[in-house]
Amino acid sequence: MSNSAPPAAGWIHEFSTRSSLDTVEVGRQLTRLLKPPQLLILRGDLGTGKTTLVKGIAQALDAAEADEVTSPTFTLIHEYDGTQDGKAVKLFHLDVYRLEGERQLETLGLDELLTPDALVLVEWGEKFKSIRKKATGEIAISSEGGDTRKITVTLKE
Ligand SMILES: Nc1ncnc2c1ncn2[C@@H]1O[C@H](COP(=O)(O)OP(=O)(O)OP(=O)(O)O)[C@@H](O)[C@H]1O
Ligand SMILES: [Mg+2]
Repeated sequence: MSNSAPPAAGWIHEFSTRSSLDTVEVGRQLTRLLKPPQLLILRGDLGTGKTTLVKGIAQALDAAEADEVTSPTFTLIHEYDGTQDGKAVKLFHLDVYRLEGERQLETLGLDELLTPDALVLVEWGEKFKSIRKKATGEIAISSEGGDTRKITVTLKE
């Protein structure tokens, strides 16, 4: 299920899924909405499906197979090379859950990642003011009971 609306703040797209496979598929579908450069916060409670969604995005970009996309919990950042509309795309998948304070965040060099061909997806990015300021949008995932998830993509333009 999906629907779209243009609110005052940007574009909102909503999806609903009932399994992790479903969420991978929604990740594949919504990739067309994500034109580089983008820095998106992936927001949602522990274990709601943020990493699962990135599996679908990586697949859609021919950047990696779903099982090759794992959580960057300890490595902090995973990088994949993909393509979209015949153009090269760099996909960066970050998880800043374990980072504490802007000083630690600076060591990641987020600014350098956001090149014109980059799609930067940051799990737990809302924790940091500097990331909230730089973000071009967010993908929020919430559990609606059982395996049901609501996925809301908000893009500033
Ligand atoms: N509809 C659904 N979409 C996505 N995952 C689902 C769904 N229903 C159940 N799950 C399960 O929820 C878990 C989601 O795990 P995932 O690693 O993607 O979450 P996460 O949001 O990245 O968590 P973390 O904040 O710990 O990184 C998986 O175990 C998956 O099987
Ligand atoms: Mg995760």
